[in-house]
Amino acid sequence: MKGGAPTSVTVLGATGSIGVSTLDVIARNTDRFRVHALTAHSNVDLLFRQCLEFRPDRAVVGSEGLAELLSRRLSAAGLHTDVRGGTEELRDVAAASGSDVVVAGIVGAAGLAPTLAAVGCGKRVLLANKEALVMAGALFMEAVRRHGAEVLPLDSEHNAIFQCLPGGYRRDDPGASGVRRVLLTASGGPFREVDPAELETVTPEQACAHPNWVMGRKISVDSATMMNKGLELAEACWLFGLAPEQVEVIVHPQSVVHSLVEYRDGSVLAQMGNPDMRIPIAHALAYPQRVDSGGDPLDLLRVARLDFEAPDDRRFPCLKLARDALDAGGDACATLNAANEEAVAAFLDGRIGFMDIGRVLARVMEQLPAVAVTSLDDVMAADQRGRVRTRALVAEFEAGRRA
Ligand SMILES: NC(=O)c1ccc[n+]([C@@H]2O[C@H](COP(=O)([O-])OP(=O)(O)OC[C@H]3O[C@@H](n4cnc5c(N)ncnc54)[C@H](OP(=O)(O)O)[C@@H]3O)[C@@H](O)[C@H]2O)c1
Repeated sequence: MKGGAPTSVTVLGATGSIGVSTLDVIARNTDRFRVHALTAHSNVDLLFRQCLEFRPDRAVVGSEGLAELLSRRLSAAGLHTDVRGGTEELRDVAAASGSDVVVAGIVGAAGLAPTLAAVGCGKRVLLANKEALVMAGALFMEAVRRHGAEVLPLDSEHNAIFQCLPGGYRRDDPGASGVRRVLLTASGGPFREVDPAELETVTPEQACAHPNWVMGRKISVDSATMMNKGLELAEACWLFGLAPEQVEVIVHPQSVVHSLVEYRDGSVLAQMGNPDMRIPIAHALAYPQRVDSGGDPLDLLRVARLDFEAPDDRRFPCLKLARDALDAGGDACATLNAANEEAVAAFLDGRIGFMDIGRVLARVMEQLPAVAVTSLDDVMAADQRGRVRTRALVAEFEAGRRA
């Protein structure tokens, strides 16, 4: 809050799971936060209702046609929100001077350009869109440094790590704070105990039925394949300046311990809480203060036990693919991210099987060796190459299934 005035917030991806949770926290703390702008891709109905409730100055949707539609509905309701459509407008609103904080809640590679636009204006960016960092980690973090932006992680694991690190932690020298490594927890998703042979035939609905978290469909499938943890591994390395071998993934089915930091002296700090995204969102929105999130208090007696186990590489080949891409460097993570978005979309469309996701990704990574990146254009070229190759492989897998 600046001089008592509420902090002005732009929510990119307002109609998604992160966006809705963010607005829930804002609604509980209207004395501290006001909404400058909301964006969606195509869900005009929900964005309309959100505009009625939060009365933003601006709204952005995926196309000019949808913008016109939303604008007409808002005018009829007596609101004079400035409504625009298209990707240029998305970047523009992310960079607009009307907000102090930008919540990066768009899913996938589409979030990269607007998130970078907010970083480029030195804003406080609350990052949920992990794909941006996975695709362009080095360029992204360099832009954060150059423009004096501040990135606060919303991903529950990275938010937990952030909370367990000391004030003044330097990502260019983690050892100076005595940090030895980080333990990134993973729920193991809905298929942690399912026989690997049965995974060949699981449906998108089964894959999206996460045992602990309610999330968008893409991240839900990523959790089921554990690619989500692979993306988070890369995210942790970039955010906290860690080498991949300093980040260990451990499966923790209760999703109560959100991650841990191990120090040189043997101390291990953990952050805990119920699996409710409003908790890390409230933390980052109000940082360094604390506000009400709406999340229930953690009842450890009810949780009763906390289990930890090693991930099963046979069941979750995507985790190793992500580690390999991180080790390969260059554009490998951008390629893997693009391929994953395409393969997950194909699975959700019923075109390939669940276990085909990992198979397709392995083939793409074999066929497209890592190339060095020096610019955002290089990253976007890798993204395109990854998508084109994946679509071709998906078509082959699909034909194989039909034969
Ligand atoms: N959900 C969670 O609990 C969670 C936790 C940690 C991290 N994350 C990360 O947060 C991000 C969002 O996840 P989510 O689960 O909230 O996703 P989601 O529910 O699918 O919502 C995605 C949001 O992005 C918008 N969007 C989709 N495609 C777009 C495009 N091409 N251009 C502009 N906007 C677009 C959607 O608009 P429409 O509604 O109009 O389609 C929606 O507002 C992801 O990167 C995810 O990995 C999520």
